[in-house]
Amino acid sequence: MTILVTGGAGYIGAHVVRLLRERSDVVVVDDLSTGSVERVSDTPLVEIDLAADESSAKLASLMHEYGVKAVIHIAARKQVGESAERPAWYYRQNVGGMAQLVLAMESAGVDRLMFSSSAATYGLPDVPADVLLSETVECRPISPYGKTKLVCEWMCSDAQASWGLRWAGLRYFNVAGSGWPELGDPAVLNLIPIALRALTNGEQPKVFGDDYDTEDGTCIRDYVHVLDLAQAHLDTLDYLGRDERPYDVFNVGTGVGASVSEVLEQIAVSTGYPVDPPVVARRPGDPAKLVADVQRIQDTLGWRSTKTLAEMVDSAWASWVPIHGKPAVPPT
Ligand SMILES: NC(=O)c1ccc[n+]([C@@H]2O[C@H](COP(=O)([O-])OP(=O)(O)OC[C@H]3O[C@@H](n4cnc5c(N)ncnc54)[C@H](O)[C@@H]3O)[C@@H](O)[C@H]2O)c1
Repeated sequence: MTILVTGGAGYIGAHVVRLLRERSDVVVVDDLSTGSVERVSDTPLVEIDLAADESSAKLASLMHEYGVKAVIHIAARKQVGESAERPAWYYRQNVGGMAQLVLAMESAGVDRLMFSSSAATYGLPDVPADVLLSETVECRPISPYGKTKLVCEWMCSDAQASWGLRWAGLRYFNVAGSGWPELGDPAVLNLIPIALRALTNGEQPKVFGDDYDTEDGTCIRDYVHVLDLAQAHLDTLDYLGRDERPYDVFNVGTGVGASVSEVLEQIAVSTGYPVDPPVVARRPGDPAKLVADVQRIQDTLGWRSTKTLAEMVDSAWASWVPIHGKPAVPPT
């Protein structure tokens, strides 16, 4: 059985491909806009831009050629700020790209789909800060990026009702770390890589507000190790084969948050850099606490995270030099 992984040449996709290859044949579709061939050098890769006009026919014929039985759809554009600057382009990339993929699946008779969704679908949820975010919380995405992910979930539900697509969406929280040094995150968009980039350049990372209603005053987020996340994809594929599938979406997090200060303290321990961050004004739209309720994925898929914050930061640091090059300023 061959699994098609879109976005398999990217950060998360390459981890999924590496685990998946232990049990299945895999073909990767990627336009290499942010991914790279070296990440999946031992796996067949077909270069297709999912959002291009002619992609649906190409995808359908590829599904026939490789005997594809299921699709893991990871490819997307993921920068919140860029999505606010270029909203129509984001909809075209993320929603348009997925529409082409689902059309191809329908035409090729491939009916199993795992979709990479995001905690960004929750946006600014209307729940007290101390409540864990369960999948039943109303989604109120604030960025065009988060909205594209929610629309994609709706598209899957509609295809399920219309022609029997069997789908499940994983709402990733903050993905961190690496399973292998050469597969580290090349993007510098999240707290851990942003702090590592500042420190390796001889600067201090900033803390945006320390007067939130949390124990140490800094924002709390749910960080999940990319290898744990990759395993959740394999468990989701198994779930799609079941007759009884009570849920369509699952949070993927640890269920335990870490504050900005706690993450920075761990970075100091893991890297040896002195960390003494300046506190600056809050960023607009940053909720005090966003932590996943992971009961559903634990009970239904039997998945739970296994790795600690220290393992996430240690592995992110181990992949820093292979991915980003030698620090301008070495640790003291
Ligand atoms: N990294 C995170 O913290 C995080 C959190 C929540 C959700 N996600 C979601 O996870 C997925 C993967 O994220 P990542 O961090 O690995 O990003 P990434 O940029 O490393 O990977 C995305 C991959 O998709 C490919 N791609 C993008 N647009 C494409 C298109 N139109 N056609 C074909 N290929 C295309 C890119 O070349 C790349 O290989 C995305 O859907 C993202 O929205 C990521």
